[in-house]
Amino acid sequence: MNKSVSFTAVIPAAGIGQRMACDYPKQYLPINGQAMLSHSVRLFLEHPAIERVVVALNCQDQWFSGLEIANHSKISTVIGGEQRVDSVLAALDVIESNQWVLVHDAARPCLVKDDLDKLITLAKNNQCAILASPVRDTMKRAVSGIIDHTVDRNELWHAMTPQSFPCGKLRQVLREALIAGVNVTDEASAMEWAGEAVHLVTARQDNLKVTHPEDLALAEFILARQKR
Ligand code: C5P
Repeated sequence: MNKSVSFTAVIPAAGIGQRMACDYPKQYLPINGQAMLSHSVRLFLEHPAIERVVVALNCQDQWFSGLEIANHSKISTVIGGEQRVDSVLAALDVIESNQWVLVHDAARPCLVKDDLDKLITLAKNNQCAILASPVRDTMKRAVSGIIDHTVDRNELWHAMTPQSFPCGKLRQVLREALIAGVNVTDEASAMEWAGEAVHLVTARQDNLKVTHPEDLALAEFILARQKR
């Protein structure tokens, strides 16, 4: 095990959250009195193994500077890009290649330390990994709204964040994947394309991504319970 690995968290927070249908980006919606982004970042700020937290912001962001976390000594910001992957790349560009990065969506405020620690342990053993949860529902493939067939769910997982990789490698692979026209919806999708082994780490199901308005109440409930 390499105990001297250094970690930086990367938080893509430059999205506009169209599906939430509200006046400002979803990462700033209040949850139990704090912006969703503050909840998503807090664990990384408190964790002794994380040296820095780089947050990618929209070029028109007017809200971040008003958050309490904005002045934290671990935090720095970059301007994000058009797609999530562009925002992640903008952050990776200001991080030393030998760091390990933990990329975590601003829209996942309910991450717990135990799950983060699992990724950190694997990284210290030089293993790339993502948090994930096995699919529980029966899965259907459909054509024009009609079921074509049932997909074997035993091999299916929901990919979550954080996702953990060496910074230099991830930067190189993301750039190559974009040039090759790969649809990079998360960091792992580029690493898979490059043939790199990425481990799936079973995480708590309640590490949910707030996407639709109804997810907000659920996140409030989960965070309130975690506090207790
Ligand atoms: O929209 P979605 O929930 O998939 O976005 C996932 C994360 O990526 C969010 O934290 C969002 O702010 C971020 N994002 C970004 N830059 C973009 C688009 C999304 O940082 N251009």
